[in-house]
Amino acid sequence: MWYPALRPALFAFDPERAHALALSGLRLAGHLPPSSTRAPPVSLMGLSFPNRVGLAAGFDKNAVAVDGLGALGFGFVEVGTVTPRPQAGQSRPRLFRLPASGALLNRLGFPNDGAEAIAARLRRRRFRGIVGVNIGKNAATPIERAVDDSVSCLRLVHGVADYVAVNVSSPNTAQLRGLQAPARLEPLLTALLAERARLAVARPLPLLLKIAPDLSGAELGELARLVTRLGVDGVIASNTTLGRASLAGGAAGERGGISGAPLRAVALEVVAALRAPRAARGDHWRRRHRLAVRGACHARRRRRPRRALHRARVPGSGAGRTLRTGPCPACRAAVSAPARRPIGHNAS
Ligand SMILES: Cc1cc2nc3c(=O)[nH]c(=O)nc-3n(C[C@H](O)[C@H](O)[C@H](O)COP(=O)(O)O)c2cc1C
Repeated sequence: MWYPALRPALFAFDPERAHALALSGLRLAGHLPPSSTRAPPVSLMGLSFPNRVGLAAGFDKNAVAVDGLGALGFGFVEVGTVTPRPQAGQSRPRLFRLPASGALLNRLGFPNDGAEAIAARLRRRRFRGIVGVNIGKNAATPIERAVDDSVSCLRLVHGVADYVAVNVSSPNTAQLRGLQAPARLEPLLTALLAERARLAVARPLPLLLKIAPDLSGAELGELARLVTRLGVDGVIASNTTLGRASLAGGAAGERGGISGAPLRAVALEVVAALRAPRAARGDHWRRRHRLAVRGACHARRRRRPRRALHRARVPGSGAGRTLRTGPCPACRAAVSAPARRPIGHNAS
């Protein structure tokens, strides 16, 4: 409601300064009574989310505005990425607007106050919704020691988080995305799951994995099999993309990850692939998806549109041969409009 009026003023500032101003305003909003929404609550992973709309990691990295965000009506807020020790992140400028593309480019590199300070802040929160803590490794920690950083973060935030998201997908910490390779991911997740079991008082804290949108079909298939086998509670798709297709604006050539409009379709493809039956994943899902969306879409929107699987005729395959696929472009909006699941966002 206020954004169209505030936008010109915010755009007068450098993006990072505008972000800091927004956080200061939200800190004040934390003194307002929590807003009530008519949206129905959602149960997932043993958690009760007051509504489906949440805020992704990166906006409130240091958990300074959780109460204010709650007052705006968010059902969940994911803070972080939090690292074991405080760090400054990359040098400025490191955040760029691409208004013509409806996008942001960032290479912040996890600037944050460190897990201990952030946990102390979360202990004092009044927000009654769900708080996820997104954890990662310090930039100075060698990739071989990423497990140690992640486990110490988990220990520090365990009592104050409703769920923990393991970030192996930021493009702005050297080699971090390499942790998505099964040889590195399996020991990382195994160590975290073991630590979580050790720390559990009543029931284990839900553990999610946040992935990149730039994985190949084969990599995505392997990753899906691994997290299923290990019993990870969920996957957050997706982090920012390194893709630069159809970007307009001078900042498009900067290093960093793109979020916003250009990421949307890519992230939805990842979500669709993760939801597809195992046989439909794998090397060829992208090719099949492209074939399918070029065909005639018979969107069968059932009562729950986001769960709808679309049937599309494959060109040249004769009548009757159909593929189960993700949404065709025409239906994408309907499919993604009201988020049916609070986790698994490209857009929360
Ligand atoms: C400025 C900025 C900072 C971000 N920082 C983080 C971060 O620290 N950790 C993380 O997991 N994702 C981070 N993200 C990624 C977002 O959480 C989200 O996954 C991504 O922006 C895609 O969603 P969107 O297109 O709806 O913004 C950041 C995104 C932006 C724009």
